[in-house]
Amino acid sequence: MRGRLITVEGGEGVGKTTNLNYIRDLIEKSGKIVRSTREPGGTPLGERIRELLLDPAEQGMAADCELLLMFAARAEHLDKLICPALAAGEWVLCDRFTDATYAYQGGGRGLSKQRIIELEQMVQGDLRPDLTLLLDVPVEIGLKRAGERSRPDRFEQEAYDFFERVRAAYLERAAAEPGRFRIIDASQPLAAVQAQIREALAPLLQAGAAA
Ligand code: TMP
Repeated sequence: MRGRLITVEGGEGVGKTTNLNYIRDLIEKSGKIVRSTREPGGTPLGERIRELLLDPAEQGMAADCELLLMFAARAEHLDKLICPALAAGEWVLCDRFTDATYAYQGGGRGLSKQRIIELEQMVQGDLRPDLTLLLDVPVEIGLKRAGERSRPDRFEQEAYDFFERVRAAYLERAAAEPGRFRIIDASQPLAAVQAQIREALAPLLQAGAAA
């Protein structure tokens, strides 16, 4: 049986790392093999593309170049890791995926949604995540949390308004596809966030166990 693709999305400082570890544990405890990966990146070539994308020295990168590099890394990721793992029955837990492109390049940079739809179709065919957890916090809180960490990368250097557009685009996508998305209020204390995550994952884990 084909594995499941679960993606985790959100703006800066929403607590993805801690929650990804928790999600991974939940999936493993239900007896599945899970591959944790991330975008942009996830393969040796994809990680090299990631370095270019995040490098603050590439401040002037054309928005279309950024868009195409995201999909270039994704094509490699699908070919080398995601598709083979799913075909082998493994579950793939991915830290960001194409919804991030709609949010950052579409919402943040203002690129045409139609172009993103076309690239998505070209690179992914019919493959879409089975479940997407959107960790949501108000931009002000997220940026404050993120600012307490290391040196900002090329995206983290963007202005406040950019992240408001990113958040709005994520929320719009979640509203348009309520069957695939679960919005997690990540501004709550960790125990409450984890309770929401357990609830969001339960149907998929139970369905997987029954199959
Ligand atoms: P990360 O720091 O959360 O791992 O993500 C790296 C950055 O890349 C983050 O600022 C969001 C950005 N990004 C996009 O702009 N478009 C995409 O399609 C993906 C996957 C990430």
